Formats: sequence, structure tokens, C-alpha cells
Amino acid sequence: MLPTVSHGDGVWLHDTDGRAYLDGCSGAINTNLGHGVREITSRMHEQLDAVCFAYRTQFTSQPLTELSRLLTDLAPGSLGHVQYANSGSEAVETALRLATLYHAEAFRPFQCAILTEEPSYHGMTAGALAASGHPVRKHGLNPLLANQSTVAKVRPRDGELRADVEQWERAIEEIQPHNLGAVIIEPVGGASSGAVPADPAVLRRLRELADRHGFLLVADEVMSGLGRTGTWFGCDHAGVVPDVMVLGKGIAAGYAPLSAVLVRDEIATAFDRPLSRVLFGHTMAGAPLAAAAGLATVEYLIAHDIPARADRSGRHLRALLEGLAARHPVVRDVRGLGLQLALGLHADPDRTPGTSLDLVAAARAEGLLLYPTGIDARTESVMVAPPLTSTDAELEELALRLDRSLSRLTPAPATQADRLVAATH
Ligand SMILES: Cc1ncc(COP(=O)(O)O)c(C=O)c1O
Repeated sequence: MLPTVSHGDGVWLHDTDGRAYLDGCSGAINTNLGHGVREITSRMHEQLDAVCFAYRTQFTSQPLTELSRLLTDLAPGSLGHVQYANSGSEAVETALRLATLYHAEAFRPFQCAILTEEPSYHGMTAGALAASGHPVRKHGLNPLLANQSTVAKVRPRDGELRADVEQWERAIEEIQPHNLGAVIIEPVGGASSGAVPADPAVLRRLRELADRHGFLLVADEVMSGLGRTGTWFGCDHAGVVPDVMVLGKGIAAGYAPLSAVLVRDEIATAFDRPLSRVLFGHTMAGAPLAAAAGLATVEYLIAHDIPARADRSGRHLRALLEGLAARHPVVRDVRGLGLQLALGLHADPDRTPGTSLDLVAAARAEGLLLYPTGIDARTESVMVAPPLTSTDAELEELALRLDRSLSRLTPAPATQADRLVAATH
């Protein structure tokens, strides 16, 4: 049985039975500023009183215009056009639609293959799920996804968790570059690999190949974007500017459903009509209330220099986690960037996912929330990704509770209910 949430306060969530939970994974790695941030809620209240909804083909709004300006200023290179959606999945769909339409517009309809990685996770809608290297979340959906025959996968070598430069090159050669519409990649993995960063050399090589062959490089920064990894964007670690950048989760930090697709000017202007009329969109996308939440969130990120803070706190938390890894043999490794971190776990080969769910259940008993990740025994892991505003004392409290949770592990298997909850994450 799930607890019933009562209220949130900073890094804490409280249930109606009076229990407090330290949010060690920012919900689904999205409540990046914690709960009850007045700068955001008061802005939302003002917007609620002014107007919640105005349709995107009839009006823009002041918060939306201002948010677009901030996002395009923050983004690297000439990512100067923004298209909004409500969720990460919808934004990924939008990016895939854009790649397909972009080549069709230039009379290259054959240039429509999409290359992605396994493991990866890009969302639950059909196109985004087809593009995901996440067999657990695709289970049973082949009849729906079989139509998405344009998607190909590149896989890591045995014993590795992400594909290397040579494997990407080989996969692109196999598809033949003139057929390739887009590569979509997570700069730092999330739900599938558990915070495994892409090799910066891979991102740089993909940039070169995209320039040479004309396919679009799409960075899925739904989880890694807007400060989570200790820089504004995950791609910044490699110094790479993608053609399309997908943002979600942290853009409104759990205060409202909002996501965005940032598009390079040269691509957005390749159409004979505005991007919004090329891509169409969703009823609620970029509506004033969500825009106000997004604007207040991004202003907070800037005013408090949150990426730099995530970098500092990430180093502190990482050191704490490495201390735990040294003492708990079930931990295979500590990985990630900034505050997008995970514990790789030694999986039970007969029960996958098993260890990660056991740890999540043990942590919940210790009043700590964690996020189970992985697609198989090799990638089984638990993400530790608290709000970017966590204080050192809160990170130390997290590590203390995690230590106790790891100590509980062996005798406390996850219940079936926990398994079901985790499987629907
Ligand atoms: C990298 C990435 N892309 C896309 C998504 C899908 O986002 P949403 O759950 O908001 O649809 C997620 C969600 O975990 C994600 O981590």
C-alpha cells in the first residue's frame, strides 16, 4: 500500500500518518528545487488569479515569452527556437516528428531512420518508447511498437554499460548515413542504465558525423538538463551543441507539467512556415499556468546559480556514497555526474529486478525515497538524485539512512506491491 502524501517541505515529503520521507531521488528526478518553494508557488498563485489557460494558437503569454528568452539564452550555440509540450515523452515525440519532417521538407523522405542506444529511456508514448532501449518498459507492447520499424539500436560491448565511439560508427555505417534521420542520446543515462554518462568522445564524434551526413543530433536532456549534472546541460560536459535539445522534468521542477524542445535556428527556419505550424502540438502545451511555474523555476536556477551548487553537492554526495560502497559489498559502483548519481548493484541473476527493489523498499522503511533503475542484471541500480538545493547536512542525513537501508538488505526482500510500484515508475 502506498502512503498518502500530506505535504512537502524542502527535501522532505510527509504522509498523512505523520511519517517524514527524505526525498533522495527528487520524485522521479524532477523536483529539482524541493517542495514548497515560495518564489514558485506565489508566482503560480498570481497566474491562477490572472488566467490559467489561453490556447497556444490564439495567444502567447508574458511568462511563456520570458521563459523562451531565458531558455534560448542559457542553451549553447544557436538553439534559438522553442516548442513546448507537457511531458518529456511528448517532447521526445515532438523531436522525432521534427527530424522526420525536416528531411521530408528537403525532399529526403528516405532519410528517416532513428538510431538510439540500448540501454536508454526516452518516454512512454509510442514513438518515444520505440526509440527507448528499455525492454522492461516495452514488455507486451510489440504489437503497438512493431510499426516503428525505422528505429535501430546501438548496444554496448559485453561488460560495458554504454556504447563507445566505434560501435556508434559501426551502427551508423550499417544503417547507411543517407538513411539516418536522427540520433537520439541521453548525455547521462537515467531510468535505463542508472546514471551512466555517455563518453564525451561519443558525443563529439556524433556531432562530427551529424555535420558530415546531415542527420540531426538530438540530446534527450529531460533528466540531465537545467543543472542536474552540475552544468546547465549534460552536453556541456562534452562541449557539444546538439541540433535539438529536449527538456522536461527540471524545467518546472514538479510544480506543473511542462517540457520543451529547443531547435537550432538553421533547422527551425528550413521550413516555409513557423515551427509551431509544422509540428502542431498538445492542448495544454505552454499554457500560462505551467509557463509561470517554468519561468519562476528557471529564474530561481539562475538567481541561485544552481548548476554550480549541484556540482559542489554532487562531489560531496559522491564521496559519501563511495564510503558506503566500500563497506557494503552489494554495491558494485558509484556513477553519474553532479547530482545525477546512482549505485550500481550486484544483481541476483535469478531475480532481476530484485536487489534494486529490495533496496528501495528498505530505504522507504528508513524514511528515504530512492529510484530503482536498470533494464537487466548488468544495469541494475538505484538512483540517488536529491533536490539540487539539498544542504550538506541533508546529504549527510541521506547517506546515513542509505547506510541503514543497505544494512537491512539481505533479510528484507521487496514485496510484490513494491515490485509493481517500481515497475510502473
Ligand atoms: C531521459 C528521459 N527522457 C524522457 C523521459 C520521459 O519523460 P516523462 O516521464 O515526463 O514523459 C524521461 C523520464 O524519465 C527521461 O528520463
